[in-house]
Amino acid sequence: SRSIKIAPSILSADFADFGREIEAIEDQGCDWVHVDVMDGHFVPNLTFGPPLCKAIRPHITTVMDVHLMIAPVDPYIDAFAEAGADIITAHLEAGPHPHRTLQAIRATGKKAGLALNPGTPVEAVIPLLDLTDLICVMTVNPGFGGQSFIAGQLVQIRRLKALIGDRPIHIEVDGGVDPATAPLVAEAGADVLVAGSAVFRGGSVEAPEKYGANIRAI
Ligand code: DX5
Ligand code: ZN
Repeated sequence: SRSIKIAPSILSADFADFGREIEAIEDQGCDWVHVDVMDGHFVPNLTFGPPLCKAIRPHITTVMDVHLMIAPVDPYIDAFAEAGADIITAHLEAGPHPHRTLQAIRATGKKAGLALNPGTPVEAVIPLLDLTDLICVMTVNPGFGGQSFIAGQLVQIRRLKALIGDRPIHIEVDGGVDPATAPLVAEAGADVLVAGSAVFRGGSVEAPEKYGANIRAI
């Protein structure tokens, strides 16, 4: 259904051509742009930081959804806010003070997101719900695109949906979302679907219609 938002992860885009890649996926109908920030410490991979976010900001007309897979988080929040993030998502597992982290994100005026690794029970967010605009349920172990969907997380998405009740909190799902798994996560209660490989596969800035077909197939 179209109340579901699709957030392509630019981790699967051509890194030499982010500006045109973003313009192509926005032209082709994506809802948000998902930016995966990795530090080689919290996750075993390195990607990019605030300068890249700042450089791509002018190319994004929708929402810059920044997923921080870094620890510590707090020293970098202001830099990502200044770089133009609309939503800043930190991992619950990134440090001992997630409450402080969410307060610090809200203090910048940005939306605050909380991401959960597959091993973390969703009930851990209960004390944090009033500080949170988005909860990202990881359906892979974070660090890499193109991994397979962990089906055991569906029950967690369902439990999270019940916990949230009528609060205005997005449920985002990240990892292994494709035309086969998207209906399952949507049915479980997710309303924002991150997809990297399933959006970018087979397309390019020269053949952007494929991105549109991929987005519509999710
Ligand atoms: C994983 C990232 C995801 C990932 C999604 O650590 O947070 O956003 O790039 O890629 P796919 O859709 O290929 O699993
Ligand atoms: Zn992500």
